[in-house]
Amino acid sequence: MGIDAAGDIPFHRPFIGKEEEEAVLRVLRSGWLTTGQEALAFEGEFADFLQSPREPLFCLAVNSATSGLHLALEASGAGPGDTVLVPSLTFTSTAEVARYLGAEVVFVDVAPGSFLMDPAALERTLDRLSRGLPAYGGLGSNGLKSGTRGGFGPKGKPKAVLPVHYGGLPCDMNAIMDIARRYGVKVIEDAAHAFPSRTESGEFAGTLGDAGVFSFYATKTITSGEGGMVATRDRELAARISIMRSHGIDRAVWNRYTESKASWYYEVVEPGFKYNLPDILAALGRVQLQRAWQFLEERQHIAARYNAAFAGDERFTLPPSGVGNAWHLYPLVANPPLSRNTVIEGLQNRGIGVSVHFIPLHIMPYYRKRQGLDPEDFPESLQRFAGVISLPIWPGMGESRIDRVIAAVKEVSQE
Ligand SMILES: Cc1ncc(COP(=O)(O)O)c(C=O)c1O
Repeated sequence: MGIDAAGDIPFHRPFIGKEEEEAVLRVLRSGWLTTGQEALAFEGEFADFLQSPREPLFCLAVNSATSGLHLALEASGAGPGDTVLVPSLTFTSTAEVARYLGAEVVFVDVAPGSFLMDPAALERTLDRLSRGLPAYGGLGSNGLKSGTRGGFGPKGKPKAVLPVHYGGLPCDMNAIMDIARRYGVKVIEDAAHAFPSRTESGEFAGTLGDAGVFSFYATKTITSGEGGMVATRDRELAARISIMRSHGIDRAVWNRYTESKASWYYEVVEPGFKYNLPDILAALGRVQLQRAWQFLEERQHIAARYNAAFAGDERFTLPPSGVGNAWHLYPLVANPPLSRNTVIEGLQNRGIGVSVHFIPLHIMPYYRKRQGLDPEDFPESLQRFAGVISLPIWPGMGESRIDRVIAAVKEVSQE
């Protein structure tokens, strides 16, 4: 958002050093621009970063997390007649990939006071779907629509659940995996915000489900401009994703040109997609990966400064404290009567960039109309949306910008 001109503080600014410039130049001068050795090396280094003593982790570089989510869901077999469960408080990517495949999206509310999918609501919804009932209705926060009897919303075989590690805060993966296994659904972690996030047991978010998908979009915790990575321990899933990310061709494109016995021969085994990550971007991602821990330390420091500044102030609710949070976002909630929009307007007038994560998907025209939804059907998502302000949190911000954001938030909240 914007450039850092005239003392403005952008919502985000990527940290790009000399090493990133040199890495991109190296690829530009190499004679090979698209997917090749850099992407392969990036996959290996990313897997090493996340490696645990458990089974090997396959990492597949793609051109966005959206592509990665699409590929992982496709490889899980989702299609027409199936349902895919996603939190209502997320970006459109998490849900749209189900629609690409002809499956129906089923929303699950976030837990009371939380930004994360409610395992209890997930279980209630899976119970309804597996009994052939429409997704919403009955008791509980998920899909409670006043005056509705007998349920409403999509029906269909539940195929997959996509928990979102919102802002870098890991979901309760033990609970989600347990529920998903009992109902026989795949778990694809939307880890777009969650690099590197760790659960209480120290395991990396994105490595705990059947697949996890990371984003390297320009504002993310590490960036390649655009890009993503799918991580999975499932060999078959990895093989399918590898083929489908390059047109459904049975071998990686770069091999065709760089193998010692270069071959013109290939076979199309499926109508796949064009989702490969070019080497120019992979080279950038490799350098950023080396900075991941340093970036995290800086974001932790900024979050700690904000927490200390706003703690005990009844106008605000702090983000849930989270060991293992990657702190992609710092979501401060404005408590009534303080108006979220007033705070945002005040900050913008002072040259401070902010954002809102997220406008819940169930109030978006497409899903609202398609599923006959009311805003109150997912009251927790609606409540988080009503108050949330994402403050700037990026490596290189420096103490004086942090001070200015804190002072400005306090000032505009008195207006
Ligand atoms: C929760 C979530 N999932 C997925 C994505 C998609 O990431 P990408 O832009 O790499 O496709 C985003 C992007 O912001 C996101 O916020």
